Amino acid sequence: EEDPGLPSAQRIRLYQKDVKLRPASGDGERGARVRVLGRVHRERKQKDILFLTLRDGYGFLQCVLGPPLSKSYDALTMTRETSVEIFGELCEVPAGAHAPDGRELQADFFRVLAAGKAAGGKDAITNRVSAGGDTQTLLDLRHLTLRGEVASKVMFVRDAVEFAFHTAYKEERLRKVSPPALVQTQVEGGATLFKFDYYGQNAFLTQSSQLYLETCLPSMGDVYCVEKSFRAEKSLTRRHLSEYTHIEAELDFITFDDLLNHLEAVVCRVLELVMADPVVGGYVKELNKDFTPPERPFLRMKYADAIDWLREHGIPNEDGEEHKFGDDIAEAAERRMTDAINRPIFLTHFPVEIKAFYMQKDQDDKRVTESVDCLMPGVGEIVGGSMRIFDYDELMAAFERTGIDSGPYYWYTDQRKYGSSPHGGYGLGLERFLAWLCKQHTVRDCCLYPRYMGRCTP
Ligand code: 4AD
Repeated sequence: EEDPGLPSAQRIRLYQKDVKLRPASGDGERGARVRVLGRVHRERKQKDILFLTLRDGYGFLQCVLGPPLSKSYDALTMTRETSVEIFGELCEVPAGAHAPDGRELQADFFRVLAAGKAAGGKDAITNRVSAGGDTQTLLDLRHLTLRGEVASKVMFVRDAVEFAFHTAYKEERLRKVSPPALVQTQVEGGATLFKFDYYGQNAFLTQSSQLYLETCLPSMGDVYCVEKSFRAEKSLTRRHLSEYTHIEAELDFITFDDLLNHLEAVVCRVLELVMADPVVGGYVKELNKDFTPPERPFLRMKYADAIDWLREHGIPNEDGEEHKFGDDIAEAAERRMTDAINRPIFLTHFPVEIKAFYMQKDQDDKRVTESVDCLMPGVGEIVGGSMRIFDYDELMAAFERTGIDSGPYYWYTDQRKYGSSPHGGYGLGLERFLAWLCKQHTVRDCCLYPRYMGRCTP
């Protein structure tokens, strides 16, 4: 039982720093008596003393349990992940000792929360999830691996990045909208459509909200959305998911140059906001110790020049031959070039044939489009964008050329009938952005529960 003679304890979350500590100098001053709730992240016994590092999602706190607490049944059988409530005095750690935030809780009372102790023995979390475990097992146990420090830091960065995009867009006066996920039109090619039966009709999971964003321009001005996109990718790579978070924006009455400048400004502003956060900026530095925000302007390189670069550096195309104008630049070649140049690249002006039907042609060279891919070292493409065909007849010809029936797109082609305008936009894959920022090997580690070919669990 808790000693009723003790001062009442103040409930704190582990991020709270505005709590009085007992000075390590020990001049008789008392620290605050607090009450904390959390899970046992780590435990260590040293003679009669039990050290528990508590985790509550907001921080870590070292708790010190001496006798008689350390000799209680619950202390002797303590397991990792057990949820506990601990009371005691907050103290500065003695000189030479290390603990999170330089403090520790000298416990005077604790109890295991009603659900009882976390599984121990061979079922202990450390036996099920070990750092060296094989990838598939770790993914099957994603609900447990998420409790780890690296996985949770990536998720904290993700949260901050998403929030920073909202802030950056608000600063640029974009309006947020929420287009549908269940659709009857394709955007990025039939090969990666997830089809399903919609009350007897054919429907798809959306590949991109772009076409819907375009319909918002006339009434809402510039718009953006943060929604899931779905791609039935049939290859297993470290940058392809079947379900990913797509950050898309569409801007009205702009030139291609305006589009590139806006994109660069948003990416840099997001990084500035994230790195300015003392906690999350610190996580980025821990995950990616060499990270320095990119310099502006980003390198701008035309597709045709990239083809020359690849030829000069002897990097072959997918058929093992020398690259030529018109080739798709495959993932491997793209990454070799981006890694060699080692800074963000705006790769622009892709040929009409290898890009989506809706892209505006360059008026000075009709072979190519006003299109851009933003490439980052270590990952490759993280953004795809373009100006959109805004002439009605030209758009209809593009449907024709690509063999897409324009019928179901009446709501899209109507935009070209009622006050069309030069406009453009882009989509950024949040998981790819994070893989770059947090230096993660794969986008799979940058989402909560990754979905890709062969995995839909947990
Ligand atoms: O280049 P994509 O296909 O472009 C579009 O969908 C445009 N309609 C977007 C727009 O203009 N509003 O995809 C855009 C970005 C890619 O650069 C990539 O970051 C991400 O979406 N992406 C994927 N991320 C993870 N897994 C996949 N399978 C992805 N496919 C695309």
